[in-house]
Amino acid sequence: MTGRPSASRRTVLRGAALTPVAGLGLAACSGGNGGGASAAPTAPVVLGAESEVARGGAELYRDRNVVVSRADDDALTAFSSICTHAGCAIDRLDGTTLVCPCHGSEFDARTGKVLRAPATEPLEALPVRVKDGRIVAGPEA
Ligand code: FES
Repeated sequence: MTGRPSASRRTVLRGAALTPVAGLGLAACSGGNGGGASAAPTAPVVLGAESEVARGGAELYRDRNVVVSRADDDALTAFSSICTHAGCAIDRLDGTTLVCPCHGSEFDARTGKVLRAPATEPLEALPVRVKDGRIVAGPEA
């Protein structure tokens, strides 16, 4: 033995040293959620009074990761506000434009469509209804 690590041992050690860095990089992109809950609702959630969403406008329910808009004909539409790029919770609504805090993607809150990359996929549509004057979004239980 020379006391000097072989090339393969050095390679293993170098790889081990880099592994935590790569892990952090993944966590920053896939787990980042802007501080809110990390997923869209998988069961119905009560969001608020029906009157909170004005005709032609939208309301972002950050704590539920849902955006609800109301068309001119009064129809409500809901989308998950989890960004389709890398899973961040969108925390900003400018008029009817959602802006992701992680990499700047923008979405139309009325249609879910991407307005600005890097996201390429639209937001996930959610069922929405009014029950007892309250907006309820998410799949039926
Ligand atoms: Fe990258 Fe939203 S997670 S733009």
